[in-house]
Amino acid sequence: MFDIAIDQDQPITEFYAELTSGAAALVDGEPDPIANMANIAALIWQYVPELNWAGFYRVIDDELVLGPFQGKTACIRIAIGSGVCGTAAATGKVQRVADVHAFPGHIACDAESRSELVIPVFKGSVLLGVLDLDSPLPERFGSADEAGMIALVEAIANNLG
Ligand code: SME
Repeated sequence: MFDIAIDQDQPITEFYAELTSGAAALVDGEPDPIANMANIAALIWQYVPELNWAGFYRVIDDELVLGPFQGKTACIRIAIGSGVCGTAAATGKVQRVADVHAFPGHIACDAESRSELVIPVFKGSVLLGVLDLDSPLPERFGSADEAGMIALVEAIANNLG
């Protein structure tokens, strides 16, 4: 339905620029946050290699609640401050974890996960939730992935809540 084709064989900065353009096009003109999160999770899952989970947790009544995602079934509710996602929500800061086994309080939804990147999703000053990416590879996410995903989230956050 959407004609988005992203070249995976290009330098990572260009790859993320293209992914961000695709994400912005997907949510353009659509106000429903769940529909948009679902399509963004699918877009990331389709094009970002070496992931075993990609999706959103939403802030609802002061906790994180599972939102649209791709991957295996996952924990439904996470307390703010708990695990990698809860830490991103509590601090408002990106969590890039090279080895989740070394992260105090990491919540192992999928025992295969070895590294994780969590981006807080803000609409203005309001925390809507987090984007969570998991990989079965240790140290999967570098600084370019972090910068690329931050830019992607910033480009679409107004249509996620
Ligand atoms: N590992 C996460 C929990 C969410 S799942 O990986 C989908 C955490 O510690 O926050």
